[in-house]
Amino acid sequence: MIRTETLGDAAAIEAVTASAFLNAPHTDHTEQFIVAALRAAGALSISLVAEDAGSIVGHVAVSPVTISDGSSDWYGLGPISVLPARQGEGIGTALMRAAITALRELSAAGCVVLGEPAYYGRFGFKAAPELVLPGVPAEYFMAVQFRDGALPDGDVFYHAAFAASE
Ligand SMILES: CC(C)(COP(=O)(O)OP(=O)(O)OC[C@H]1O[C@@H](n2cnc3c(N)ncnc32)[C@H](O)[C@@H]1OP(=O)(O)O)[C@@H](O)C(=O)NCCC(=O)NCCS
Repeated sequence: MIRTETLGDAAAIEAVTASAFLNAPHTDHTEQFIVAALRAAGALSISLVAEDAGSIVGHVAVSPVTISDGSSDWYGLGPISVLPARQGEGIGTALMRAAITALRELSAAGCVVLGEPAYYGRFGFKAAPELVLPGVPAEYFMAVQFRDGALPDGDVFYHAAFAASE
């Protein structure tokens, strides 16, 4: 079952996030702190958990991003986490689809994600050279747009909570 986080879920979300990223490549192992800092800042625009038999086994966060060209209503997806023992069962896919539905419900203009093109391409994310995350190779930074027209063009900045380290 995918549902919005509720009061009391924070510790379980932190545990799932820390364990998902424990052996992941390209991580500083700060993802659980980022989720907590986003929540504390009121910047968890979307926070969905995957629950199975009363336990939280997955989580996805979405927060607002700013773009240097002034485009509004753009969001960043991540971190997304599934308990290692439950990966490969489709839980991540269910979280991704629910996050995209929730973004549309928010009337988002679009969403960016940093990660594996092979994974996020399945959900409509494409490399978007117009959108630059400074310091990151362009092929790993992708966007999906929910409105017609040209993509924004500029540098993308995640919420300050992404600097959280404890
Ligand atoms: C990425 C993650 C959320 C996917 O969740 P999941 O429940 O395992 O995903 P699903 O079961 O829905 O999908 C699995 C499919 O995606 C593929 N996949 C999973 N992680 C992938 C990755 N990093 N790159 C490419 N493909 C990946 C699997 O090979 C599988 O393919 P298949 O359907 O052809 O068998 C999960 O593996 C995870 O928590 N990883 C550690 C944390 C992490 O790296 N998060 C993403 C940061 S960008």
